[in-house]
Amino acid sequence: MKSEEVSILCEAVINSEPMNRILLSKFIAAVASRDVEISAAESWLKAVHKYGISAQDTITLTNEMMNSGSILTWEEEPELVVDKHSTGGVGDKMSLMLAPALAACGLKVPMLAGRGLGHTGGTIDKLESIPGFNCNLTPQQMQDSVHKIGCCIAAQNDAIAPADGLLYAIRDVTQTIDSIPLITASIISKKAAEGLHALVLDVKCGSAAFMKTEQDAIQLAQSMVAVASGLGIKCQAQITSMDNPIGSHIGNSLEVIESIEVLQGKGHQDTRNLVIMQASSLLLLSNIVQTTAEGDAMISQVLDDGSALNKFEQMCIYQGVSVETARMLCKNPHKVLPISNTKIEIISNKAGYVNSINSLNLADVARSHGAGRFDIEDIIVPEVGFIITKNIGEKIDSGQCWMEFYYTNEPTYEEISLLNRSITISQQEIVPQPRLITVVEEPRGK
Ligand code: URA
Repeated sequence: MKSEEVSILCEAVINSEPMNRILLSKFIAAVASRDVEISAAESWLKAVHKYGISAQDTITLTNEMMNSGSILTWEEEPELVVDKHSTGGVGDKMSLMLAPALAACGLKVPMLAGRGLGHTGGTIDKLESIPGFNCNLTPQQMQDSVHKIGCCIAAQNDAIAPADGLLYAIRDVTQTIDSIPLITASIISKKAAEGLHALVLDVKCGSAAFMKTEQDAIQLAQSMVAVASGLGIKCQAQITSMDNPIGSHIGNSLEVIESIEVLQGKGHQDTRNLVIMQASSLLLLSNIVQTTAEGDAMISQVLDDGSALNKFEQMCIYQGVSVETARMLCKNPHKVLPISNTKIEIISNKAGYVNSINSLNLADVARSHGAGRFDIEDIIVPEVGFIITKNIGEKIDSGQCWMEFYYTNEPTYEEISLLNRSITISQQEIVPQPRLITVVEEPRGK
């Protein structure tokens, strides 16, 4: 595509005019086939980042990005195809449980997920700590897995919304990531390419989230819900707090362990509650249930009766894990997953009630020990992470352990000191606040 044509798009953005649809379509196709000058794409991204684009142009852009690659199609029961997306948080392992739990309820979940570039590993990094787990599925394999099992979790690849790959890479180096229309188009185009009927978005907000304030989180949620529903997907966004870590385990292997515990009907209540909340709203959006209470009961049942765990085991086997390993993983994950055998206990120097745990400090330390990446080429160390042994609101004595740190390289004095300072203790009793702050939905009647 000629750079002069991209300049016409830039002019429209700068003048707050609608972009020419034909040129926009040509531009996104050119980005997907890598047939555009990088400098022209940079100028366009910078213009969108600086001036924004209308809701209608965001829908058009998302649609073009979705159409830049393969789109999964579902001939049988398309109304049962669902997924969720989370903007990411510390200890956020929901996808690992959500996909098999929803499959156990009869829904179809062709989940695409990412590797983490940031503080913590992504869903794919967590799954890749399971020996043999293959996340590199073709669109055809994704469809086959969903037909056979009801779910799969695959890594994003260039077959799906390939325009996003290049645009995201350029955004990363041009400081244009934090643009609501660009984030919206990037996330929703990939989800829409799964051929979804319904989508739940978990938009995290707080000190350890991408969106720090409730207002910013709501703005992003409104944009994503509007675009998803503009593309015919039923969509709800849940704004949830991301100050304290989610559940008890942080780190790649450790988060798989906590997820399996929840799938065994046990596990941390915080994690279980989030799974139930997200899954229940997908059951409602798909008309499998008529009330939230029914949805909550249905998900609780599949977590408690082993059927969600059974779907997880089948998904592992379909995605390359040997039958014996998958069985053992679901029975006793400690025997299968790599966990460091060196750990240090982090001790409270005060008595009282746990008031807060600084997620960002934990994520910083975990990342510098290999649980997350600084660079896309970095290799994840799956055995590193934390187990939090005292929950928010729980009573703690001075000298008592509140967290275990599993490491492979000796932590520095500064790191231990940072971890020691990552808990606040209150003298008064603390009532833990619910994660859900508010819900953003598409306008009624759609
Ligand atoms: N995740 C994505 O996939 N894209 C963005 O733009 C931001 C987060």
